[in-house]
Parts: sequence; C-alpha cells; structure tokens
Amino acid sequence: MPSKEDTVVEKEPGLSAEDLWQFYVENNCCETRYPMERATSVLQNSAAVVTARDHGKLVGVARAVSDGLSAQVMELSVALSHQGPGARNGTGALVEDDKFDVGKRLAQTLVEVLHSQGADWIEMVAWKTELETYSDAGFQVKEEDRAVFVDTRPLWKKAGQRSRRGDAGDRAPHRWRWLQEMMGVTLHEATDQDLPIAKNLVPYYIYDMSEYLGWACTPDGRFDGCDELPSYWEEPGKHAFMLRAGKEIAGFALVRGNHEEEDIDFSIGEFFVLRKFRGRGVGERIARQLFDRFRGRWKVAQLARNTPALAFWRKVIGRYTSGEFHECEEDSPWGEWNVILFRNDTSSRSGP
Ligand SMILES: CC(C)(COP(=O)(O)OP(=O)(O)OC[C@H]1O[C@@H](n2cnc3c(N)ncnc32)[C@H](O)[C@@H]1OP(=O)(O)O)[C@@H](O)C(=O)NCCC(=O)NCCS
Repeated sequence: MPSKEDTVVEKEPGLSAEDLWQFYVENNCCETRYPMERATSVLQNSAAVVTARDHGKLVGVARAVSDGLSAQVMELSVALSHQGPGARNGTGALVEDDKFDVGKRLAQTLVEVLHSQGADWIEMVAWKTELETYSDAGFQVKEEDRAVFVDTRPLWKKAGQRSRRGDAGDRAPHRWRWLQEMMGVTLHEATDQDLPIAKNLVPYYIYDMSEYLGWACTPDGRFDGCDELPSYWEEPGKHAFMLRAGKEIAGFALVRGNHEEEDIDFSIGEFFVLRKFRGRGVGERIARQLFDRFRGRWKVAQLARNTPALAFWRKVIGRYTSGEFHECEEDSPWGEWNVILFRNDTSSRSGP
C-alpha cells in the first residue's frame, strides 16, 4: 500500500528518458503511441520536471514549459498503483483518484519550481475527471473560458486513417492494442463454470514447470497434476480466481486462507499466467491485487528448483513489501521448498 512517507516528490531535471518511457508503458499512457525518442525530446524541452518516486521507482511525473512569465503544465501523471479505484480510464496520464496525494504534491511542487523561475501565470487543460485533483492542489477552474486546440495526435486517429506525423501512427495501433491487452488482464472470482476451464489449463501449467522440476509426462503423453484444484472451489477459506483479458482467458490464481499453522493466514496455492501475457507485468499486478485483497501473514512457497518462479516472487514481494520479507527453506518428499514470509496487515509492513 503506497504511503506519503514512502513517496518522495521533488524536482528532478535529470530524469532519464528510459525511466519516463517505462513509466508510460507500465501506466498505459498515450505517449507510447509515439516513437520512444519523443520521451527524450519532451524532457529536453521542459522548463521544469518534478517526479514522485516510491523507494526509487518512478510513480509520478509533472512537467511544464515556460517563457519565464507564463507557464503551461504539459503533464501530470500518477502511476495507477498510486491512485485509487476511481482511476476509471485506466491510464496514469489522468489523475482521477489521487488517493495518496501524489498528484497534489506533484502539482504543488511544480508550481513552486515555476514560481521560482518567474512564472506567475500557470495553466493547463484538465480532463473533467481530474478537476478535483487540481483544485486540491490550489488550481482555480476558469468557468468562463473554453480550451481551444488543434489535435492531430495519433491517439485519436480512427482505424485506417493515416497519421499526419509520419509513420508513428501506423505502427502504434498494434502497440496500443497490445498494451490494452496486457493492461486489460483482470482478476475475477472463479465461478462453478470456471472449474473445468482451470482443469483444462492445468496440463499447460504443469508442462511449463516440468522444464525446471524435471517432471515426466504420463506414459500416454499427458501432464497431470494439481489434484487439489477442486478444493479451491469447494472448501471454505480457499479462493479461486480466473485471469481474463476481456473474454479471453489469461490464467488462474489460487489463494489458500485456511491454514492450520497459527502464524500463517494466506498462501498462494497456484499461480499461472498464460505465455502470451507474460513478461509485461501482468503477474506482478495480479499478485499485488491478491495481496491487497487478503491482509495478514503470507506464505509464498515454491520448489527451489523452480528458479523462474523464485525470481518472480522475490521481485514481486520484494517490491510489494519494500524488502520487508523473510526467506527460509523447508524439506519435502518432492525436494526443497523456498518459502517467502511477509505480512501486510500492519501499516508499517513489519516482518513476521
Ligand atoms: C512466473 C509467472 C507467474 C510470471 O508472470 P509474468 O506476468 O511473466 O511476470 P511479470 O511480467 O509480472 O514479472 C514481474 C517481475 O518478475 C520477473 N520475472 C518474471 N518471470 C521471470 C522469470 N521467468 N525469470 C526471472 N524473472 C522473472 C520479471 O523480470 C519482473 O521483474 P522486472 O520488472 O524487474 O523485470 C509466469 O511466468 C508463469 O505463469 N509461469 C509458469 C507457472 C509458474 O511457475 N508459476 C509460479 C509458481 S506458483
């Protein structure tokens, strides 16, 4: 859970284009419809750049151009991870639910920097769902004025229409669709109809892991496993979820919350992201949603030989807890388990 204390807001004139671009990609920002070099030029041409960083990770950007008297805010973006559920357009480029005041602090710091440069008129065009954020930050709304503009951005280009800015718009729709697919993967509580679907996915899950765990297929060529799968649909305290991108199946996730151990509240039963959705932050986003949903003492265990899964969970939990987790090993008939323990039921996120 983001907190004010963890998020540092300050001017950062040396912000790198790579950091900015990664932020745009991760937060579904429309700038990714341009070639990546644009991230360099927007930074070079900004008079002021202010960032928000949570333990070093870029989670917000505010930029402005200025002639020394008047300034125009070009960007106020806050990572979706640092906005509340009201960020309904699903893009960090709009600050629609500034739950943790990151947008407000960015805007206020940007205004201070611009004032120090001599600008005493600072304006911007805000989307209607952002007005609260800006008025919280001290901006007034000019009811009597209307924004006038010429808009040839590829974002609004209709399918098949050629961009007036070279070929960026021709390549971009593919990237946009791809981004939407990735960002569009959502978590759904599984229904009874989902149990046979999850069962059908199990062989792919087992097959993927067999590469690292050395499991053989059955003599008739199958990869069986996850015998406990139905119990997640049946037993109280066990929770089954499907991952979906629109109507398309993207994986499943199982959470166990009926541990007999006194010091464990929840664990990950199984966790599977289909291949086409991997490597784009989907697993991390979904895992964080599960952690946020179930608060308590967590145990995430995987066979130590499953090195990719171990690397994944170390990264995800490391970032989620800001490094406040414990690791240990447990023996079992199937080999050594690596166990990651953390808790997320205290605001300080102290270790178990
Ligand atoms: C493991 C799995 C869930 C990862 O899903 P994903 O959507 O590709 O993961 P993300 O893109 O969100 O990755 C989050 C972080 O983990 C890292 N990571 C993901 N897969 C990794 C791998 N195979 N090896 C090393 N690191 C990996 C990523 O690099 C990323 O860190 P970064 O942002 O610093 O680069 C997915 O590959 C999978 O379903 N594998 C098969 C089943 C399995 O092993 N499940 C886990 C056991 S319960």
